[in-house]
Amino acid sequence: MNSLNHVAIIMDGNGRWGIKHYNSRNKGHRAGLEVVEKIINVSLKKKISYLTLYAFSTENWKRPKKEINYLFKLLETFLKNQISDLEKKNIKLKIIGKKKLTPKLNKLILLSEKKTENNSSLQINLALNYGSKSEIIHTIKYLNKKNKIISEKNISNNLYTKKIPDPEILIRTGNTKRLSNFLLWQLAYTEIFFEKKLWPDFNEKDFNKIINKFLNLKRNFGSI
Ligand code: FPP
Repeated sequence: MNSLNHVAIIMDGNGRWGIKHYNSRNKGHRAGLEVVEKIINVSLKKKISYLTLYAFSTENWKRPKKEINYLFKLLETFLKNQISDLEKKNIKLKIIGKKKLTPKLNKLILLSEKKTENNSSLQINLALNYGSKSEIIHTIKYLNKKNKIISEKNISNNLYTKKIPDPEILIRTGNTKRLSNFLLWQLAYTEIFFEKKLWPDFNEKDFNKIINKFLNLKRNFGSI
């Protein structure tokens, strides 16, 4: 049976779900946040060590201002309301991405990371203002500046995800089959599961089904 330490998720389909049910994309994001909270609890139950969630990409700045503001408000609410819960559950929160959002969010992020930095049951990596190509370029520039050789090991050890094992599972909901500039380096040998359901409809049973499928897969990493 495969071991499972790290699950990454592209939570796609909030907008379509919101339009379908309430004619409002923002209502879809609200419903998506509830699923995030459920999946965090399942991850704890399953003793998964790392959960990486794609919440806002560097490309998402192209969305209407109203939607961006709503997403940032949701994130603020999540950080404010959940921080004591995360602490209670021994969860560590780490932001991956360029930490340049709104002054309020930047402050909350720093505070949440600080408050949870010594926790050890589950690490949530929240990808915010994240783009994988820019992460890789930034890492290579840094290695050059430090006169270090450009090797696989040095790159892996200097990405936002340094010290975190690569994900064994990537889930993308929303019936779309692409990586959208997410963890391009780290996903080199990851098992990818594309899920037809929109993120707000994704549930514990769907998550368990994917995990069980993964646990019984034959993984050969280029060998036979
Ligand atoms: C993609 O769906 C989803 C996002 C860009 C935002 C994800 C955010 C959340 C689930 C809520 C906040 C999360 C946290 C962790 C606080 P989409 O809007 O691209 O959907 P569409 O493809 O139907 O348009």
